[in-house]
Amino acid sequence: MSLMNWIDDRFPATKVWNEHLAEYYAPKNFNFWYFFGSLALMVLVLQIVTGVLLAMNYKPDADLAFASVEYIMRDVPGGWFIRYMHSTGSSAFFVVVYLHMYRGLIYGSFRTPRELIWIIGMVIYLAMMATAFFGYLLPWGQMSYWGAQVIVNLFDAIPIIGGALSEWVRGDYVISDITLNRFYAFHYLVPFILVALVYVHIVALHQVGSNNPDGVEIKKGPKGNRWDENAPADGIPFHPYYSVKDIVGVVGFLILFFAVVFFAPEMGGYFLEAPNFEPANPLKTPEHIAPVWYFTPFYAILRAVPSFAGTQVWGVIAMFASILVMFFLPWLDRSPVKSIRYKGPITKFMIGMFVVVFIMLGYLGTQAPSALYTALSQIGTILYFAFFLLMPIYSKIDKTKPVPERVTK
Ligand code: HEM
Repeated sequence: MSLMNWIDDRFPATKVWNEHLAEYYAPKNFNFWYFFGSLALMVLVLQIVTGVLLAMNYKPDADLAFASVEYIMRDVPGGWFIRYMHSTGSSAFFVVVYLHMYRGLIYGSFRTPRELIWIIGMVIYLAMMATAFFGYLLPWGQMSYWGAQVIVNLFDAIPIIGGALSEWVRGDYVISDITLNRFYAFHYLVPFILVALVYVHIVALHQVGSNNPDGVEIKKGPKGNRWDENAPADGIPFHPYYSVKDIVGVVGFLILFFAVVFFAPEMGGYFLEAPNFEPANPLKTPEHIAPVWYFTPFYAILRAVPSFAGTQVWGVIAMFASILVMFFLPWLDRSPVKSIRYKGPITKFMIGMFVVVFIMLGYLGTQAPSALYTALSQIGTILYFAFFLLMPIYSKIDKTKPVPERVTK
């Protein structure tokens, strides 16, 4: 094709297509868990597109923001649809990314040589959390206002500089129009930083190649498949094999996604909280302040730690530590094998326990505190940290099964 030649002489279009799609050999044994990377990418695009459309009618002004969202919902043609796609999309993004991270955890995808993919993934996760937090203030409802107030006030717990720091973040003594404006600026900016981070994430992935459910390195296995004699024998071209497989995931995802958008956009208060249908009122604190579900495991950890000598600083430290500890996963796992398929009973038990504890903490974080719930949150917090901090020990002493030479089905 002469047009393609013309372009290729000036821009490496065919070269990139081949290196990253048509001649990029991915392990042939990907399963269900490998849907979530491409789904995360799709949801990121969906959030950016719907977000830009919302921005066309949204007003980042404390006097106008709430009404502008109602205007989008009632008067802008299709506005309700765009808004519900965006609000459901933020929860869907975290569902997909939590499953994506879980896949990494069970198949040891964070282990050598993929440490950087994992670390970039963690930076992505932090940037996603920041974006969601900034975005939640924008409708200027009661939970937007008081949620932001509680979280920004956490900085007050830091000794000496805390007070000044939280004031600097807010730009005011309380959450105000100034805060709304800057959160809006960041909410628009950070998703584009996410795009750049995802690009780097995939560049790092393509440098080393994908892991797979067996945790076997296909590049170290025999060479030669039906397309290329130098390519790994257990690899198949990403395009068309996995591009088509990923479409199956996209269709499944979209069915569930639109079921929520059309039939349960509030998801019983988990995706959109009831107090947020009331305009922000700095003079009226809601009875019970809770963040959206994707933050609640960490919120439960924050509340589980009692305040000592009148300072909440230990709770704040525990909360940040519970996120930061995940960065160190590549060095905490000392098992001779990568995938859960060949790991022993202790590791399988610990991963199972971690899932139960994470979900339990997530639930507890949505509830008003009580003596029982606080005790459960404390047990959950200890087990959460035990999963990570004891990993160097149990992953090393646990029995493992022999890993096959080549990937299995
Ligand atoms: C915007 C969010 C994200 C996007 C769009 C994204 C995208 C992708 C894509 C397309 C892949 C290759 C396909 C696949 O293996 O499923 C991948 C692989 C991977 N991602 Fe992500 N990712 C995101 C967040 C994260 C996070 C938060 C982590 C962990 C902290 C992470 C860790 C990994 C790892 C370890 C792999 C390699 C998996 C393997 O080879 O088995 N990613 N990512």
